Amino acid sequence: MTTLYERAGGREFFVQLVDRFYDGVAGDPTLRPLYPPNLGPPRDHLAKFLIQYWGGPTDYMDERGHPRLRMRHVNFSIGWAERDAWFRHMEAAVKAGGLSPEDEAQMLDYFNTSATFLINRPGQPAS
Ligand code: HEM
Repeated sequence: MTTLYERAGGREFFVQLVDRFYDGVAGDPTLRPLYPPNLGPPRDHLAKFLIQYWGGPTDYMDERGHPRLRMRHVNFSIGWAERDAWFRHMEAAVKAGGLSPEDEAQMLDYFNTSATFLINRPGQPAS
């Protein structure tokens, strides 16, 4: 049984995935204001979290403790617009990564579901 972390090619895949994602966030007028001026630490957090989530080393947990993602997002106002923008950048980053169709579908499904789960501001989907 291999992990998706291994099949993707290990740490480097996730570092590059997160780099592509944050390059999108950096130019996004909806999302950019939510993030701190220096996107270096957010890149590091997300890469380590995803490495751990998909079966790689647990540096995230060792450095930052239990993820508790809902709790860690309560200070950011996340409605459908933010959720959709976030997912759109992540979807593009994943699709540029060259995963197998099965792994790509699994990863997109995870991001789609978890992004919706982090909505913390009432409102309706765009359509
Ligand atoms: C729904 C739209 C989302 C928005 C607007 C959003 C926004 C943010 C912001 C502003 C931060 C703070 C930057 C930092 O210190 O890292 C953050 C942190 C983080 N986000 Fe999100 N996020 C979203 C969805 C997600 C999803 C779907 C995941 C995982 C599948 C995720 C995982 C993380 C992680 C791991 C951190 C770092 C937590 C920490 O250790 O402090 N986020 N997010």
